[in-house]
Amino acid sequence: MTNKPDRMAWLRGGKAHCANPPNPPPGSPWRLVLLGAPGVGKGTQAELLCSRLGTCHLSTGDILRAADCAGNDRTPALTAALASMKAGALVSDETILELVGERGRCLRCCGGFVLDGFPRTVAQAEALSKFLDREGVALDAVFSYELPIDEIVSRLAGRRVCPGCKAVYHMTMQPPTRPGICDACGKQLIQREDDKPETIRTRMRVYQESTQPLLEWYAQRGLLIQVPAFGTPEQIYVRTWTCGRTAPDAFKQPEPSHAGAPAVGGEAPALHARHP
Ligand code: AP5
Repeated sequence: MTNKPDRMAWLRGGKAHCANPPNPPPGSPWRLVLLGAPGVGKGTQAELLCSRLGTCHLSTGDILRAADCAGNDRTPALTAALASMKAGALVSDETILELVGERGRCLRCCGGFVLDGFPRTVAQAEALSKFLDREGVALDAVFSYELPIDEIVSRLAGRRVCPGCKAVYHMTMQPPTRPGICDACGKQLIQREDDKPETIRTRMRVYQESTQPLLEWYAQRGLLIQVPAFGTPEQIYVRTWTCGRTAPDAFKQPEPSHAGAPAVGGEAPALHARHP
């Protein structure tokens, strides 16, 4: 039995409820945004942060993939959004803001959030900022993960995902116990449609054109913390907090006591795969 939030309110939207919503933390909840090129490891870090901060991983890519699996009841806007995703292009701001707006209660959740893949354009960042202002809450930090493009492409090319439970693996760096088979549910692993080489090139170009300007936007607001994303997921997790502590605009709330721990090579549970 896991205490991990099942994220149903986020993944399904509408009237769906989380079976096990996060508990309110003792202090104020963490509200974080993760930025970085496709495949740099945002989702992997989001899972580590959420498991240790007790908060919820909110990925707009996961909403779209969940809608793709659900199959029926697609509006023309959602059909167009899924086509854009498969081609490696950005989904329109209008559609993304509608999807996130329908899930506004997840941004108000007493457990806080780690946003992954949203915002992705300055227009989305402005809309998020207005929404949070209206709710009287603020972001604690925006972490931007950075890695040379060749290494990112190798992370993406080796990624395999489970079509059943959505766990994420890497063929060499986070392999399943039995090659090609999901450890969690036994299904055959597949490659994401947008992880094909030609689509990866499009996604990188789109990131540079549309999402990189967000770094400056958040830097001007004193929220940006840049994190080198080399090494193991655990090392990057520890570095995330080290960079946060030493940034010119350090966190506005005290770090959780376990944030810098465990030391690299210490007693952290090994991260074999990212499970949704
Ligand atoms: P989304 O799902 O957000 O994809 P992305 O940003 O392209 O990011 P990825 O999920 O590909 O990578 P990641 O950085 O999370 O890396 P991961 O941890 O998996 O979006 C998909 C699409 O949806 C977009 O292209 C767009 O069309 C659309 N979309 C979504 N949001 C949108 C928005 N707001 N506006 C418009 N359109 C939107 O890691 C990658 C691999 O590396 C894995 O195999 C992992 O196991 C491995 N790995 C991770 N960390 C390490 C490490 N330290 N060492 C070795 N391997 C590692």
